[in-house]
Amino acid sequence: MLESMICRPSNTLLEVMHEINNNCRSVAFIECPVNGLVGVVTDGDIRRAILSGTPLTQQISTVMNLNYVFAKSGATLTELVGYITNDVKIVPIVNPENFVVNFYSSDQSVSYPVSTPNLSGKELTYLTDAFLSTWISSQGEYLDQFEERFANYCECAHGVAVSNGTAALHLALMALDIKEGDEVLIPNLTFAATANAVIHANATPVIVDIEKESWCISPEALEAAITKRTKAIIPVHLYGQPCDMAKIMHIAKKYNLRVIEDCAEAHGAIYEGQKVGSFGDIGCFSFYGNKVITTGEGGMCVTNSKELSARMILLKNHGMSTKKKYWHDVVGYNYRMTNLQAALGVAQLERIDKILQSRRRYENDYRKVLADEDIQFQKDYPERKRITWLASLLLGSGHNREKLIDKLRLLGVDARPFFIPLSEMPLYKKYAQSQSYSNSIEIGRLGINLPTNESLKSSSEIQKILKQAFNERND
Ligand SMILES: Cc1ncc(COP(=O)(O)O)c(C=O)c1O
Repeated sequence: MLESMICRPSNTLLEVMHEINNNCRSVAFIECPVNGLVGVVTDGDIRRAILSGTPLTQQISTVMNLNYVFAKSGATLTELVGYITNDVKIVPIVNPENFVVNFYSSDQSVSYPVSTPNLSGKELTYLTDAFLSTWISSQGEYLDQFEERFANYCECAHGVAVSNGTAALHLALMALDIKEGDEVLIPNLTFAATANAVIHANATPVIVDIEKESWCISPEALEAAITKRTKAIIPVHLYGQPCDMAKIMHIAKKYNLRVIEDCAEAHGAIYEGQKVGSFGDIGCFSFYGNKVITTGEGGMCVTNSKELSARMILLKNHGMSTKKKYWHDVVGYNYRMTNLQAALGVAQLERIDKILQSRRRYENDYRKVLADEDIQFQKDYPERKRITWLASLLLGSGHNREKLIDKLRLLGVDARPFFIPLSEMPLYKKYAQSQSYSNSIEIGRLGINLPTNESLKSSSEIQKILKQAFNERND
């Protein structure tokens, strides 16, 4: 591509027009063999020159832009993005000798998104079926099937489908009667929805540090944070890794605390032979588009308690009595999932084992190609069968995370930094306590997620890109 964007000052307008036509980028970089880049010309510049009578045989050097924007190799993504304006859509990147070695385009598309859904199974068939049935709202056969089958998959007796994972957490808190004045222990390293759900319940989230090795909530730090007001714990099975549920359940029993597992990133993970989501009072899942299985937006609460299930069904449907239409004893919510979403969920669930295998294959390939790098992938424990949601790893001290992410982005790979610890954000700082958050702060600072995606076409291509980005990290 780059070759077809470079022309000589002696080329004619017609020759440069041919090159621009071939490269489909609407621009050519004019380079002379001695001084490197000397000008930039767009198809618009040529069009204007022709309209003002310049012959097609004239040299491009008389028409090219001399006041062009360029970047030096090693420029960060932020710097490159900063050059883009309404007039400048493509920025040449030059080496120290002033020769073009790359370019940045405002439409630089990501070839390897961190996670995109694969809807290649029965998704369209079931969705069409639900559509044609006209049961497109929050009742229908697919909803019943999805709730039953997903609960079964999680080894739970009941499943209550909801509109998203945050609603699942909030519904669980409300069903457990968590309210103002109550404290709920949550890990410092999690997606903010965990904290938000507690705040929406008018309760107080209390931030707890994580284990250095599993990156999940630390049972020791958790026990140290318990007060008379503590009512519940939300262990988050972060990046597919199960929390230490034996210790957490022991503490919960000892202090009579309720447990809501946040399983948004851990569909199918197993702790001591038992599926996550089935340990606590309620397990909450997300089916957002980047999750292991998706319904577009969506979530589910799973539980073994008939009472809690009934309470959640009531609350998610406006608090309307199931016995008497339009009779309300509680102020409820509309947290319902639609039958259309559930149709996708049923199809996704049919392929969940394959999806998990495929994501793990990507992680294993990354492990191989980056074996010599100073990095640390997620830890495997004999009693915790984690799943791969996004391949997650910590960078050693020789790496500059932001530079690496920028570089990968330039090469079309959408790598993500880990979540920012809650205690680091002014919004949530007030929920931090006096205990140390050194583990979450260090891991939050060093971690990146790599694309782990059933739909990714070529594992070898992305491996090549990764190798290149890691090799060039100090450029
Ligand atoms: C740990 C965690 N909890 C909760 C959520 C919220 O799920 P949703 O986006 O479906 O509301 C997410 C994901 O987005 C998450 O990663």
